[in-house]
Amino acid sequence: MHLKKLMTTAALAALAIGAAAAAQAADKLTVGFVQIGAESGWRAAETKVSKQEADKRGIDLKISDAQQKQENEIKAIRSFIAQGVDAIFLAPVVATGWDPVLKEAKDAKIPVFLLDRNIETQDKSLYLTAVTSDAVLEGRTAGQWLAKQTNGKCNIVELQGTVGASVALDRQKGFVEGIAGHPDLKIIRTQSGDFTRAGGKQVMESFLKAENGGKNICAVYAHNDDMEIGAIQAIKEAGLKPGKDILTISIDGVPDIFKAMSEGEANASVELTPNMAGPAFDALIAYKKSGTAPPKWVQTETKLYLPDTATAEYTRRKDLY
Ligand code: AHR
Repeated sequence: MHLKKLMTTAALAALAIGAAAAAQAADKLTVGFVQIGAESGWRAAETKVSKQEADKRGIDLKISDAQQKQENEIKAIRSFIAQGVDAIFLAPVVATGWDPVLKEAKDAKIPVFLLDRNIETQDKSLYLTAVTSDAVLEGRTAGQWLAKQTNGKCNIVELQGTVGASVALDRQKGFVEGIAGHPDLKIIRTQSGDFTRAGGKQVMESFLKAENGGKNICAVYAHNDDMEIGAIQAIKEAGLKPGKDILTISIDGVPDIFKAMSEGEANASVELTPNMAGPAFDALIAYKKSGTAPPKWVQTETKLYLPDTATAEYTRRKDLY
């Protein structure tokens, strides 16, 4: 009888532990992250930081790599809807064409969080919030820095990001605003390098050829650091000195651009934090607890970095990324 009672107690305890674990598991949030790919150092860092931020909060994060294709992102959203995740984080490769699939997520009552890029839609209810920087401000900051640096006189070549991406459109718009009022600051060539190092190098090579081996070019504005690093390589191969013969200004703040700055081969970078997921997780947790929707835009910080802090920034960032 005593043994039976003991076993019953043990069995009850096991049941209780099992039930607690099940309750905890039921409480654990699952997020499906539709990630663009690994086109840049910044993107790889964003994926890494997202995993760390999920772990900190005990969130189950499932990541889908779309290899920079919108069709893959749409498929991944549908798959996460079928899995019944608690939320979908979407880094949209391009700005348009999202309404139908986001309507499916809305019908399934799965909140969508936009990360680091925006979408164009008439129906803002299709996503809960967007955690992004102000990409127009990034471009404007870059343009204003260059205007000051060159006393308003410079032939600029521009390496654009992925065609149709919100950040490419906004960084171009902001830069044009930043150099406005300086008639001798001219964008003499502009083309997409698709946010990749190889793309930046290839396009810069063609710019250098077309512009008297680079002698007509005073600065290269790249929509991200990776394309700028590719351009720096092309400038060196053309026999010119990046950072001196041709000035550089780009966006992201990845370790390699700080290294280039500390070596005198790059001049400035506007930082974009890779931690978009942390604020998004916090907004999701608060939303699940209270039902209160976060603001429609959670804006991350924008900051210009120059060579004076480059060595320290490189040391600080090289293991984080
Ligand atoms: O959307 C953010 C941009 O995407 C980053 O600036 C770039 O490096 C990335 O590929």
